[in-house]
Amino acid sequence: MSAYKSFAVIGVGQVGQYVLQGLVKAKEEGKIDSIVVFTRSAEGNPEATKLGIKSVQVDYSDKDAIAAALKGIDVLVSTVGAFGLGTQPTLAHAAKEAGVKLFIPAEYGAPAIDMGGGKSKLRALLREIGLPFTIFFVGVFMSSFFTARMKVDLPGGAVTIGGKGDNPLTVTTVKDIGLYIAYALTTLSPEKLEGKTILIEGDRVEIKGLIAEYEKRTGKKVEISYKPVEELKTSAAGNPYDFNSLLWLTVEDGQGVIGAPDEVNLYAPSGWNPTKALDYLLNESD
Ligand SMILES: NC(=O)c1ccc[n+]([C@@H]2O[C@H](COP(=O)([O-])OP(=O)(O)OC[C@H]3O[C@@H](n4cnc5c(N)ncnc54)[C@H](OP(=O)(O)O)[C@@H]3O)[C@@H](O)[C@H]2O)c1
Repeated sequence: MSAYKSFAVIGVGQVGQYVLQGLVKAKEEGKIDSIVVFTRSAEGNPEATKLGIKSVQVDYSDKDAIAAALKGIDVLVSTVGAFGLGTQPTLAHAAKEAGVKLFIPAEYGAPAIDMGGGKSKLRALLREIGLPFTIFFVGVFMSSFFTARMKVDLPGGAVTIGGKGDNPLTVTTVKDIGLYIAYALTTLSPEKLEGKTILIEGDRVEIKGLIAEYEKRTGKKVEISYKPVEELKTSAAGNPYDFNSLLWLTVEDGQGVIGAPDEVNLYAPSGWNPTKALDYLLNESD
C-alpha cells in the first residue's frame, strides 16, 4: 500500500515514460488510485495515450489554472525536459496552493552538476514555501552519455575524454531510473521521502576500462582523444549549460559518482537488476 494515492506526472518524455509505466503497474496492483499526465500539447502526451492514461493540457505560465488542475493530487512528479525546467517555480507555487503533499523536481543528475544554478535555486524555493520534496540523483543517463553528441561514441569508434578520465562516474538507463522512482514513491513512507535524497546507480564505470572491455568483446577499435582540463574550464566558464565540460570536470574532481557504494540503491525493488554500461553498449550497437 502506498502512503500517497493520487499522482500527477508533468512533461512525460525519456525518463517520464518509465515513471509512468511504474505508476501504472502500482495502480494495477491496487497500491495507488489515480494517475494524470500534464502536457503542453492539445493532442495529449503520446506516452500517456500509449499507456491509457488521461493527459490534461496545461498552460505552465498560469499558476491558478495549474493549481486548479492539481486539486486532490498527493504527489507531483516533474519530468519536464531540460528546456522546461523554467516552468518549475510556477509548478511549485501552484502545487503548494493546491495542497500537494510531495513534489519531485526534475533533478535526475549528479549532486556536483547544477546546470546554471537553476536546480539548487528551485530546492531553496521549495524549502522556503514549505513544500515537501524528494531529490533523485542518478548520474548520467546512458542514452545521453554514450552518444556522438557527447563524443562518447563507442559503436562509432571515437571517444573524446575530458581530462585524464581516470576516475569513475555513475551511469544509469532511463528505464531503470523511471521504474525505481515509481517504486520508491509508491512503497516508501513519507518519512523516508520528504526532504530526502535518493541515489539510483545503474553502473559506475571508468571510461578507459569500459572502452578496453568493449574492444575486447566486439573486436572493434575505439580511437581515444583527450580534451585538456584547461579547455574544459574555459568552455564551462563561457557556458554554464555546457554539460559535456561540466561532466568531465566533475569526473576529474573525483565527483563523477553520486555517492559511496553503500549509499546507492538503498530502496531497490527486490530482484532489481539494473542494466550495466557494457550490456547497454553491446545491445545498442547490435
Ligand atoms: N543525467 C542526465 O544525463 C540527464 C540527461 C537529460 C535530462 N536530465 C534531467 O532529466 C529531466 C527530464 O529529462 P528527459 O530527457 O526525460 O526530458 P525530455 O524527454 O526532453 O522531455 C520531457 C517532456 O517535457 C515536456 N517539455 C519539453 N520541453 C518543454 C518546455 N519547454 N516546457 C514545458 N514542457 C516541456 C514535453 O512533454 P509535452 O510535450 O507532453 O509537454 C517532453 O516530452 C531534465 O529536466 C533534466 O533535468 C538528466
